[in-house]
Amino acid sequence: MLVSAGPTFEAIDPVRGITNLSSGKMGFSMARAAREAGAEVTLVAGPVHLPTPRGVNRVNVQSALQMHCAVLQQVDASQVFIATAAVADWRPASAADQKIKKDGSGQTPHLSFIENPDILADVARSPRAVAGDLFCVGFAAESHDLLAHATAKRARKGVPLLVGNIGPATFGQDDNALLLVDSQGARELPHASKHHLARALIADIARRLA
Ligand code: CTP
Repeated sequence: MLVSAGPTFEAIDPVRGITNLSSGKMGFSMARAAREAGAEVTLVAGPVHLPTPRGVNRVNVQSALQMHCAVLQQVDASQVFIATAAVADWRPASAADQKIKKDGSGQTPHLSFIENPDILADVARSPRAVAGDLFCVGFAAESHDLLAHATAKRARKGVPLLVGNIGPATFGQDDNALLLVDSQGARELPHASKHHLARALIADIARRLA
């Protein structure tokens, strides 16, 4: 099983960058629950200060491009890909080699952005995923209209299972509530600890594979 987790960090210059509020806790809980259920697990983690779950193989990355590369390197050896990472949608078009300094004029730097690759969508359209040999699970952190957004995102990403949650309510917290959206409809996993939800979700995925 391959799990992506945490935020990504997109450099502006050697001392600054853009990131988001993902704590990585849900992804690390998924990796731990999968390992405890007997899977061999690789965790591709953005910059978070969380201990590696026992028995899990961890690959640390910073940027979305590095996460994309690490996931594509690992995915051929996987039967399941769970994308919990909050990947930055955009990165600065060019990171400065040196720290950008104020020049005293009050002028602000102009940043332009490039869209990052969609890691989950890329994996979901790979031949093994299309053939059903690689089961892909997406996560969606939304701020409102969870069912509508999660249903649309599942179709857009081309994944059989999309797990929705209300992002601002859960970032950094130890608990959450999840909405599982598949081709049949939606089912709620009610409010519980992220460890508890991860175990329930791994059991659900195992049933789908069986
Ligand atoms: N994802 C990804 N690579 C990206 C963006 C998202 O792999 N560049 C994955 C996430 O890990 C998650 C799913 O896609 O499993 C949905 O991520 P989310 O940020 O909710 O969706 P976006 O595609 O970024 O859409 P939007 O920001 O418009 O809600």
